[in-house]
Amino acid sequence: MCGIIGMIDAKPVALPLLAALRRLEYRGYDSAGMATLNEGRIERRRSEGKIVRLEKVLQKEPLFGTTGIGHTRWATHGAPVEKNAHPHANGTLAVVHNGIIENFASLRKELEEEGRRFESETDSEVIVHLLTREVERNDGDLALACREVLPRLKGMFALVAMFAGKEGLLFGARCGSPLVLGFSDGDKGESVGYFGSDALSLSGLAERIVYLHDGEWALLRAREEDSQLFDANNAPRGLSLQPMPVMAVALGKGNHRHFMEKEIVEQPSVWSDVLSARLDPATRRPRLPALPFLFRDISTLHMTACGTAYYAALVAKYWLEAFAGIAVEVDVASELRYRAPVLRSGDQVAMCVSQSGETMDSLEALRLYRKAGLKTIALVNVEQSSIARLCDVVLPTHAGPEIGVASTKAFTTQLLTLACFTLTAANERGWLSNEQTSSFVEALTCLPGLAARCLEKFGASESQFAEAAQLLARAHDVLYLGRGVSYPIALEGALKIKEISYIHAEGYAAGEMKHGPIALVDDSVPILAVAPYDRWFAKTLSNLHEVASRGAKVILVSSARGVAAADEGGVALAARVVLPDCEEVLAKRTDADKSSEENKTKEGEENARGWSVLEMMHPILYSLPVQILAHDVALLKGTDVDQPRNLAKSVTVE
Ligand code: G6P
Repeated sequence: MCGIIGMIDAKPVALPLLAALRRLEYRGYDSAGMATLNEGRIERRRSEGKIVRLEKVLQKEPLFGTTGIGHTRWATHGAPVEKNAHPHANGTLAVVHNGIIENFASLRKELEEEGRRFESETDSEVIVHLLTREVERNDGDLALACREVLPRLKGMFALVAMFAGKEGLLFGARCGSPLVLGFSDGDKGESVGYFGSDALSLSGLAERIVYLHDGEWALLRAREEDSQLFDANNAPRGLSLQPMPVMAVALGKGNHRHFMEKEIVEQPSVWSDVLSARLDPATRRPRLPALPFLFRDISTLHMTACGTAYYAALVAKYWLEAFAGIAVEVDVASELRYRAPVLRSGDQVAMCVSQSGETMDSLEALRLYRKAGLKTIALVNVEQSSIARLCDVVLPTHAGPEIGVASTKAFTTQLLTLACFTLTAANERGWLSNEQTSSFVEALTCLPGLAARCLEKFGASESQFAEAAQLLARAHDVLYLGRGVSYPIALEGALKIKEISYIHAEGYAAGEMKHGPIALVDDSVPILAVAPYDRWFAKTLSNLHEVASRGAKVILVSSARGVAAADEGGVALAARVVLPDCEEVLAKRTDADKSSEENKTKEGEENARGWSVLEMMHPILYSLPVQILAHDVALLKGTDVDQPRNLAKSVTVE
């Protein structure tokens, strides 16, 4: 979604602004622009398409000046063409904006009736004219003008404005969409002031930052002592700056071709980090932050999320119901408000799952839960995010910054964190004994090693993924199948391939094929089955027989035992991806530990409903092949792996 940057320095700002815009690219955009004050006059350059096109424009017509603003635009109102790109400006001021001004049509009518002329089709341009009118009415009193304009704007947004003749001053406001303010000390002791859509955009620039709260606005100057921050009631509030967190993006992609590749490969070590943060070595059980409820008082957990995070919530539904006996309702956030969910405080709690913590649909769904009085948990990767701030408890997923639009490590760390949440719930409700919980935990600690094995040949020419990737890349339509806990992974796999290679893919519950989708089957539609050799394997194999006998090219993702069973059963496989066998790995560990009575593992031990830790390990491990295949297919198709068309990483509009 749109990204905002603003900067006041003693030196020219065009190049650092451009570098900051590059750091905003990950959010998804289709045009970009910037404006600076050159001897008090507003000058701007804009371009549709990627930042590299804006860079070319700037090479031909450089921008000078030490105060400037920049923007990456993800089109909402008006096509992604130059005239709609930000900044929007007149001779008096220039504005960059993220979000939607919902009452823009009536404001535009009002302003046009006064004779103000619009140049773009955007909702954002009304801010320029409203601010200009207030500056005129208030004899150039900018603070007053800004105060007057904010209550007129309806919707969720963040904006930054720059004024002709006012070097060293920027105005910024947050009304729903995030905005960060920051400072650094320049080379010669002078100070530099910044606005940014997120901390990431200011990494390598600001040394100290503060997130604006909702409704807050600021007059930024180069020095923090001269800057002013106001709350939603226009009362001044102190700047409580915090040190800028170290951001992985500052370190770049390393030797990797894309951030997505880097983020896939990082997973074994990131999973270890999550487990270290979540597991208590003393009790050998998971460690969660203090919760404002007792698991034994809970009958229902409501979960909401979008996209990939929604599939993580779906996996958790299987786990929490089977292992802890908690009923789980999972809703796509954009739909929750359009039904009448039965929400009541007391025995129900709610959780919002979001990588960014800024997804507007999720935020709005969360507000619905809160309005009904439910205690809320934020399962987020960004701890300072809006969703985190709104919830009673924050469960950070510790994935580190994720830059590729297609979520990878954020998804699997959501799953790992949800596994720890489930084990705590199961233990506290008496569904798993302390000993069983510890043995589950020990089994989970095998996952980073298993992931490393799975990733061994990723990217290599002899990769076992090559054959399946070739097959998928040639197709127009693909079906992903899964059963039980593998069903959400099939859904996620289909989303992944759709997102970055633009191949039409759908995920189905394996058993649903015969109720409709099987009509699509012919030899041009590859069918990928996410099928660990588990309690449901035999049934999924029957479904594969059904599609194979109708000519489908079947790709089986399973362990060696699963593939052997398919071969023995006579299913003609077009390609196979073989993953380490979790059950065998656990059995070997049990053998090795047999001598020690204390360490005797009980991973194979099933809970009351006959589920074992394998049902917890499989969806986490089997997320890797579907990520790798999506990545490899995108490479074969030559699409933009990290910034797929039309998509945004952080979707801050409804
Ligand atoms: C966008 C992204 C998806 C992501 C979804 C939810 O649609 O393109 O990859 O899964 O938002 O994002 P969140 O930050 O809330 O997890």
